Amino acid sequence: MKIGILKEHKSGEKRVAIVPSTISALSKKGYEFFIESDAGLESNYSNENYSKAGAKIVEKNEIFNCELVCKVNSPTDEEISSLNAGTLFISLLQTIKEIECVKKLVDKKISAFSLNLLPRTTLAQKMDVLSSQANIAGYKAVLIGANHIGKYMPLLMTAAGTISPSRTLVIGAGVAGLQAIATAKRLGAQVEAFDVRPEVKEQVESLGAKFVEVESGSDDGVGSGGYASETSDDYKAKQQELMKERVSKSDIVITTALIPNRPAPMLIPKSMVETMAPGSVIMDLAAENGGNCELTRENEIVNHDGVLIDGNSNLPSTMAYHSSQLFSKNIEAIIDHCHTEDGFKLDKEDEIIDGMLFIENGEVRNQATKEAM
Ligand code: NAI
Repeated sequence: MKIGILKEHKSGEKRVAIVPSTISALSKKGYEFFIESDAGLESNYSNENYSKAGAKIVEKNEIFNCELVCKVNSPTDEEISSLNAGTLFISLLQTIKEIECVKKLVDKKISAFSLNLLPRTTLAQKMDVLSSQANIAGYKAVLIGANHIGKYMPLLMTAAGTISPSRTLVIGAGVAGLQAIATAKRLGAQVEAFDVRPEVKEQVESLGAKFVEVESGSDDGVGSGGYASETSDDYKAKQQELMKERVSKSDIVITTALIPNRPAPMLIPKSMVETMAPGSVIMDLAAENGGNCELTRENEIVNHDGVLIDGNSNLPSTMAYHSSQLFSKNIEAIIDHCHTEDGFKLDKEDEIIDGMLFIENGEVRNQATKEAM
């Protein structure tokens, strides 16, 4: 099977979908790789690295002869028009948000996996691009946040006096949040975290952070599959009170609250930002889905009376070498999962393949996508 790797075009995107180590590993199983020239340059993988691993460096038009085409972001209109019917396209395409793109893929009778639709099961963990990239985002949010504040992170005792540690609050202790907690702790900050799912308390505490709890008798906010659900109005009011108190005392607030298939919950209104000290910062990781803070603007740094609200929605791209490496490892695991004695096969009875394959030869299979169309 021929596998093609396209160069990214989205503004600010430095990642590449497949790195040379994946090519070396999968070539042994009979896969042939074709990569668009310089596709890995921005993440520091050169054409030479790829050819040493066994890939052919080609111009873009040759990629469309491949049966499987991989890209980090969704295909451009020009790429879709060059794809052949029946090609399998793997990317992070968000089917509902990018419904016009889905329609074009349907017209061209393409098959496509959305990495956003991978079920978050134990078996699928090694294929989970969202988790590998969120982990990086949590780490990098702390580093950038620490860089924004004009303060030390750790407690310091110096001849010139004692510096108290900075305070970091993490809202949403999922994949990105837990990595943010661990990173802020390593830098010596005083860290507390909040999440609507009480079961994460143990994980937060095991990382050495304090878990901030909303008193609630019910299982408000507990969704299925390790995700959250919408909370009641009573819970929201109690959470707002608690957040107001904790946010006002924080130097860095990292927000990662996510409810699947919903806009990001708005947890920090403008009035709450105004209780924060000038020089403090909110790193809003949910910027792409509308943000957890009212003042967030995607890919902008807003300065509100001295408080910075950073809405960078592609933090993994700022660490393109490792984010590409992990992305590639996830794709490798997906290809391995589809690999049989007779080569690459799409077993639609398989929960993972069934979840990701949202169109097959132009036919929409995913229910939510069908409804959106
Ligand atoms: P996740 O689902 O693992 O974690 C989200 C957490 O938020 C869950 O623990 C959930 O219980 C919690 N949550 C939901 N509603 C809440 C509320 N009202 N209050 C407090 N906690 C709440 O998601 P993951 O993978 O950690 O991603 C987190 C966010 O980071 C997502 O919005 C994702 O799109 C974003 N992200 C941003 C990147 C960037 O570069 N800015 C890169 C990767 C992910």
